[in-house]
Amino acid sequence: MRTIIVTGSAGLIGSETVKRFSQDGAHIVGIDNDLRAQFFGAEASTKKTRDNLIANVRGYEHHNIDIRDAPAVTELFKQHGGKIDAIVHTASQPSHDWAARDPQTDFTVNANGTLNLLEAARNFCPEAPFVFTSTNKVYGDTPNRLPLRELEKRWEIETGHEYEPGISETMSIDYTKHSLFGASKTAADLLVQEYGRYFGMPTVCFRGGCLTGPAHAGTESCTAFSLIS
Ligand SMILES: NC(=O)c1ccc[n+]([C@@H]2O[C@H](COP(=O)([O-])OP(=O)(O)OC[C@H]3O[C@@H](n4cnc5c(N)ncnc54)[C@H](O)[C@@H]3O)[C@@H](O)[C@H]2O)c1
Repeated sequence: MRTIIVTGSAGLIGSETVKRFSQDGAHIVGIDNDLRAQFFGAEASTKKTRDNLIANVRGYEHHNIDIRDAPAVTELFKQHGGKIDAIVHTASQPSHDWAARDPQTDFTVNANGTLNLLEAARNFCPEAPFVFTSTNKVYGDTPNRLPLRELEKRWEIETGHEYEPGISETMSIDYTKHSLFGASKTAADLLVQEYGRYFGMPTVCFRGGCLTGPAHAGTESCTAFSLIS
């Protein structure tokens, strides 16, 4: 049976990832300590989703670990060791506004937490694909310089442009225009890329933007984040 580690497993993207792999009959090891409730208050808690996963999703095992806790993360990876087939890392502090309120927490969750997971993967399952949910915020102002043409209902990139099929990790990040949130996510994004390049691990960064779905534990500050992002 395949074992998949999902961080932020009770969150919007993490919980959908858990359900998807469960459909394939995988054993899913979820990590989520509901830090979201601490960021945005009780209304944004992902506890309900977590309880639902524990009660109803076949093959799901939950761990209330903080990804900043390197010894706990290491121990979990050690336990599952060679059985780990993939890691999907979605746990994060996800808000621009909140990052400015407490840069220390933002950076340690987004950057150091990612480093803890990469190190654990390097030590115990270096062959397992490591999928990181980065963000389009790493680009700063760069997307505004892409050649766009206006269609009836949307903007499209110019036909024949190298990014017409989609923007890959080769598009340069912008060092001149960032937010504190962009800085912590960029640090994590670069670490994930570098573990791929330097250590030869199969890592990838998905740089999404404005994602939502039925499991979104929305709150006022997150709505504002979505509108400005
Ligand atoms: N939703 C979007 O619009 C969007 C856009 C671009 C990128 N992303 C990225 O995708 C990822 C997932 O986003 P989401 O919308 O699912 O977020 P979310 O807030 O719904 O889920 C994140 C989960 O991680 C948990 N968590 C946070 N810090 C933790 C820690 N230190 N230890 C353990 N668990 C922790 C939270 O409790 C929460 O359940 C994030 O990395 C985010 O930056 C999201």
